[in-house]
Formats: sequence, structure tokens, C-alpha cells
Amino acid sequence: FNVPEPINEPVKSYAPGSRERVELQAAIAEARGKVVDIPMFIGSDEVRTGKKIRLSPPHDHQHLLGYFHEGDSSHVEQAIQSALGAKYAWENMQWEQRAAIFLKAAELIAGPYRYKINAATMLGQSKNVFQAEIDAACETADFLRFNVKYMTEIYSQQPSKNDPGVWNRLEQRPLEGFVFALTPFNFTAIAANLPAAPAMMGNTVVWKPAYTQVYSANIIMEVFRLAGLPDGVINLIYVDGPIAGEVVFQHPDFAGIHFTGSTAVFQTIWETIGSNIRRYKTYPRVVGETGGKDFVIAHKSANPKEVATALARGAFEFQGQKCSAASRAYIPSNSWEQVKGYLLADLAGMKMGGTEDFTNFVNAVIDERAFDKIMAYIEEAKNSEGVQVLAGGTYDKSKGYFIAPTVLLVEDPMYKTMCEEIFGPVLTIYVYHSEHFEEALELVDQTSSYGLTGAIFSRDRYAIELATQKLRHAAGNFYVNDKPTGAVVGQQPFGGSRASGTNDKAGSMINLLRWVSPRTIKETF
Ligand code: NAD
Ligand code: ALA
Repeated sequence: FNVPEPINEPVKSYAPGSRERVELQAAIAEARGKVVDIPMFIGSDEVRTGKKIRLSPPHDHQHLLGYFHEGDSSHVEQAIQSALGAKYAWENMQWEQRAAIFLKAAELIAGPYRYKINAATMLGQSKNVFQAEIDAACETADFLRFNVKYMTEIYSQQPSKNDPGVWNRLEQRPLEGFVFALTPFNFTAIAANLPAAPAMMGNTVVWKPAYTQVYSANIIMEVFRLAGLPDGVINLIYVDGPIAGEVVFQHPDFAGIHFTGSTAVFQTIWETIGSNIRRYKTYPRVVGETGGKDFVIAHKSANPKEVATALARGAFEFQGQKCSAASRAYIPSNSWEQVKGYLLADLAGMKMGGTEDFTNFVNAVIDERAFDKIMAYIEEAKNSEGVQVLAGGTYDKSKGYFIAPTVLLVEDPMYKTMCEEIFGPVLTIYVYHSEHFEEALELVDQTSSYGLTGAIFSRDRYAIELATQKLRHAAGNFYVNDKPTGAVVGQQPFGGSRASGTNDKAGSMINLLRWVSPRTIKETF
């Protein structure tokens, strides 16, 4: 099929004096200067319940950005009915028409909506300009464009043989029922992709974002509607997670969940679905990308400066609130002093503050709950034997939820911050004997109850091969001589196994295949 060949949306630099910088600053000023009133979108209705929840920048919590209207279980039921009502027309629409809507949405995001969506992500989620650009503008457009390409490949797959007088065909039906998209706060692109991918394949969707991402989710919905998405195909509701889950997971037409979020929530959801399995008309598709405890291991041959740079960026971009963040490192004793020197120098150059000042690298963590959870880890570490705080360890929530990039050095490789997902700006380092590389690999594997991302730094081919083999299941995205964050759609399909999810690779054909239920048709003449 002749669909536009996707390219990764080029990342703008927002250099001082550039036109894009001026436009983005204007979008930020405009957003800060007004108070928005965000409704839910159910079918053709903008639903305002009057139960308003306040929105403010995590780095400036006294500033009012606006409100969104919270719904209850009756709105979940309405959204389900709306999705079911829109289903017949949507799944019978030519797939090219569906594809065109999402390609149009990609053009809007990369074009006229670029500064608005970046400004919303910077203010609502406290991402710095670069992190917002690679996420909200570029990755969102990439997901939509590349998924259209994969979609065409799926629709073109047919059985390879027909006996004489027979025509065998494969029909890629959407799932029977509605899909529930349950999305996290930390990536605007993921929040957009989770409802869009099943919808592209002819499904209709109930979408519930994290409350801390509603400010940008609302703009994504505006873009989908402007691109021509028919009413009811994606229904956006703001309802407390467990309340929404209670209605969705008991519904006979529940056909699948597209989830990204924490491991604990996904495990609860899976149990709930299992306990309701006899209620459903079909076995629901359960697709979930969850938490991570991502590692960097350096071999004695690694370049210490490259290791330090990867740690500084991998651990502290977006305040460590990436499922892929480098949160634990295994450094050989021969290069530790050098790695430490470079790392601490990098951290000293990282400015912290609001996203409106483009020179700030570190911004605030998402909310008070996250702040308290992260600080509890840091406080405990400060009072634990065998743990040294090499950098950071300080915090201040008077204006925003600021936590300084924190580096812990541990004597015990099983110490809790080496094993548990903190989801904040905390990097824990263990120094191993440089001659015990194989033992260090064993240690990494044993402590990888998650299996999302990881990186090996080495200039020795044998060490790279050994790490690649021994850590086969410890990371679904494995990086050689690069930081373990920043997967690009179309280049590094993303996802992990073990406690990190079902590994259906976001932004790939594998993921889109989960949203169809093929029918084989044999016709004889
Ligand atoms: P979260 O699990 O708290 O929330 C995710 C979504 O589930 C939200 O919409 C939330 O409201 C909803 N929810 C929470 N409890 C629920 C319940 N009991 N029933 C139904 N819904 C419920 O996650 P978060 O804090 O928004 O995001 C951070 C987590 O996401 C981290 O663990 C991170 O590693 C993970 N993450 C993973 C990936 C990946 O690709 N593997 C990508 C991004 C984030
Ligand atoms: N896809 C994101 C990354 O690789 C989560 O960092």
C-alpha cells in the first residue's frame, strides 16, 4: 500500500533567539495567563460534572492552571455505551480513512499544535523544554505515523496459498467489545498512543488518563477531534482509577486493556480481570507496560567519561521519572574514581528550577505523594549503615516539589534502592572488583525482578557478548555503549518482560496485532 513513508519528527533545538523558542515561550505565557475548565469527552458531549479538580504546575503549586471535571461510575458506563454505539460505523470505515485521521493528527501535533502541547507538558508535568519536545511533539507524531505504516503491513498480510478453485482470505477484525486505555502521567506520547493504537485498528475506546496528565491529555483529545475522529471512538473520562476499573472489568463487552503504569496496579488489574473471566464475551487482551529498575553496568575497558554522562542523563532527565531511567549502576573498581569525578562534575552543572527558564535541567517531581515517597527512600538511606550520599539528598517543596539529583553509594548490592523502583532522581551505585565482571553480571541478573532497560559500557567485544547473553531476560531494551533511556519509535521498539510488562513493544506491529482478532475465510468456487 502506498502510505506516506514515516520519518521521525526532527527535534527542534529551541536555541536562544530562534523563532521556535519565541513561539514556545508565547504558548507558555498564554497557558499561564488563563484558567482552563476541562470537560470529559463522552461521545459528542463535553461533560462538566461540577466536581472540579485543581491543576497546577508541579514546580509552582500555588499557580492555578485550571480545573478538570471529575466523573463517577455513571460516566464510565456512559463512556462504555458511547464506545459500543460508535463501534459498527468505525470498524466498517475503510481502514485508509481511519489511517488518514491519525496521520492528520500527527501533522497537527508536529505543526500548529507543537508549542501548545509542549507548553502543556512543561507546565502540567514539569518537563524541561528538551524533554517536552522529544515526548509531546516528536514521539506523539512518531507513534501515529509509524503505527499507520505497521497497520498497512498488517492489513496486507494474507495466506500464501490457494488450492485450485479456492480463495483463502484473512480478515483483520477489531476486537469484539470496547478497549480500555489506562495511561500514566510521565509521557504525553504514551498517553496519546494507548487509545490511538487500538482505535486505529478499528476498536472503540474508553480512555482514562492519570489525573496529573489531564492538562496535556485534553489537548491530545482536541487534536484527535480536529483531525476528524468521529464521536464516540475515543471517550476521555476523568474518574478515579479503582472506580473506573470496577465498572470496566465487570462489563461483558470488555475486550482489552492497553495499560502503562506501575507494576503493582497492573498486577491488581490482571487479578481482577482473571476473577471476572466468566463474565466476558471474549478473552480480553491484556497489554501492559509497567515499572522498571534499569541498570548500567560498566566493564573495566569502558570509557569513564561516557559512563558518567550516560548516568547523569539516564538517571536524572525528567527527574528520573521514566520507566527506563538508569537507577542502579555497577562500576568497576579500576575506573570508579574517574567515573565519580565526571559524574559529580556533571551534576554540579545541572540547574534546578521551573520549566519556564529553559536553562533548568532538573524540574519538580510530579506531585506531593511522589515527593514524599522519594524523600522517604533518601532519608532512610542517609540513616543506613554502608550507604553514602555522594550528591543531592536535599529537597524543598515550598514552591514546587523539588528534589536535588541524588547519588547513593552502597556497600551492599542488595540494598533496597538497588532493587526497588523509586521513580525519582535517585541513582544508586555499587562498585565491584574490576576482575569480577562475570560475577557482577550474575548479580545484575539476580536482582532484575524487573526486565525493562539496561546498558553495558565496554570497549571489549568479548565483554559485550557475555553481557548480551547473560542479561538476555534482564532487559527488553538493551543498550551497548549508550544510556538506557530515549528509545525512538521505528528504531528501538520499546517494552520489557518479567515484572516490567507483557513486552508488546510500543510503536511496533507486535503491539498493533494485539488489537485485532483475525478471521480466516475460505471460499470455494
Ligand atoms: P500508576 O500505576 O499509578 O497509574 C497508571 C494509571 O492507572 C493511571 O491512570 C491511574 O489513575 C490508574 N490507576 C491507579 N490505580 C488503579 C487501580 N487500582 N485500578 C485502575 N486504575 C488505576 O502509574 P503512574 O504513576 O501514572 O506512572 C508511573 C509508572 O508507570 C512507573 O511505575 C513507570 O515505570 C511506569 N511506566 C512504564 C512504562 C513502560 O513502557 N514500561 C512507561 C511509562 C511509565
Ligand atoms: N520510551 C521511553 C524511553 O525509552 C520510556 O525512555
